[in-house]
Amino acid sequence: MANLQTNLAGIKSPNPFWLASAPPTNSGYQIMKAFDAGWGGAVWKTLGVPVVNISSRYGALNYRDNRMVGFNNIELITDRPLADNLREIEEVKKRFPDHAVIASLMVETREQWHQIVKDAENAGADGLELNFGCPHGM
Ligand SMILES: Cc1cc2nc3c(=O)[nH]c(=O)nc-3n(C[C@H](O)[C@H](O)[C@H](O)COP(=O)(O)O)c2cc1C
Repeated sequence: MANLQTNLAGIKSPNPFWLASAPPTNSGYQIMKAFDAGWGGAVWKTLGVPVVNISSRYGALNYRDNRMVGFNNIELITDRPLADNLREIEEVKKRFPDHAVIASLMVETREQWHQIVKDAENAGADGLELNFGCPHGM
């Protein structure tokens, strides 16, 4: 079988097929299932404080006379507690030490950024995504 191993800035992965940060990467259970199924890496659904949620999550987009030509996605970051996600990152890395796990992060203050970066590193995340793009809706 072909060797698909990758090394992206020191982050190793058995293959270049990674899941983006989104609903399929919202828990350790999902990511472990994905790795069992063959995915090489995952960017965890964005972790943050405070946990804020909204309803509804989708808005219809109308264009001229056409109704609902598309949807605005207004899903925010994870709605699961930070401590649960950090514990699960640790579990995933223990079970899959050779797979890539990137923690996507989004918090509000400088002090919170410093803390969450340390927390994600201590949990074993291989890399960090600083999410400056999803605060819409908050
Ligand atoms: C429902 C939904 C939720 C998402 N949540 C996040 C998120 O929590 N953090 C993040 O960085 N990106 C999030 N994304 C963006 C995805 O990670 C990805 O960048 C985007 O879907 C574009 O990739 P695609 O063209 O493969 O869909 C989300 C996307 C969707 C559709």
